Amino acid sequence: MKKLNKYSIIIIIINLKSAEIMLKGEVILNTLIAYATKYGSAKKCSEILSQNLAGDVDLCNLKNAKDIDLSKYDKVIIGSSVYIGQIRKEVKEFCTNKLSELTNKKIGLFICCMHEGEEAIEQMQNVFPKELFDSAIAKEHFGGEFSFDKMNFIEKFIVKTVSKKDGKKEAVDGKKSISNLSEERIKKFTQAMNDI
Ligand SMILES: Cc1cc2nc3c(=O)[nH]c(=O)nc-3n(C[C@H](O)[C@H](O)[C@H](O)COP(=O)(O)O)c2cc1C
Repeated sequence: MKKLNKYSIIIIIINLKSAEIMLKGEVILNTLIAYATKYGSAKKCSEILSQNLAGDVDLCNLKNAKDIDLSKYDKVIIGSSVYIGQIRKEVKEFCTNKLSELTNKKIGLFICCMHEGEEAIEQMQNVFPKELFDSAIAKEHFGGEFSFDKMNFIEKFIVKTVSKKDGKKEAVDGKKSISNLSEERIKKFTQAMNDI
């Protein structure tokens, strides 16, 4: 029989330990959901995700966060709402400052926005750094909300003007709040992140 050297013994011990952990079901993948929101849609989506993702999940509103230690997370979900074609400043900064660390994680990206279909997908592609977008395991646009009761005059004006141009009659009155968050796309995204 082949003689074992000290390296093969170490490898055997590591493999036995991994097998023991797997048998006990102790492989826990920690997830961070880092998001930014203005009126709450991205927060709402982040909370739904946190309730349905497997393992330990930490929620972090980037507006209130200082430096975030990413070392304990295997998966990082980054979410933002979109205003005038841009993600929130805090999310942009987080992606830029942590890019090298983030590219070593399993990434999920989502946006909350009122564009749909191709327009929303294209918007999403433009707002995140290419490396993150290309390597993300799950990426989805969840839809959005118009909370007219929270908007200022200028925002209402922009929304009404853009909606009129797009032929979205439902949004034009600027009074009745609208929500088109997609439960189905949130579920699909959750599934993709849980399947990793
Ligand atoms: C002033 C303004 C500008 C917006 N610009 C865009 C846009 O460029 N693209 C888009 O898809 N949605 C746009 N929206 C819709 C928001 O993304 C949507 O309301 C979203 O749900 C807001 O999420 P939050 O509450 O998390 O900030 C805009 C909304 C407002 C009020």
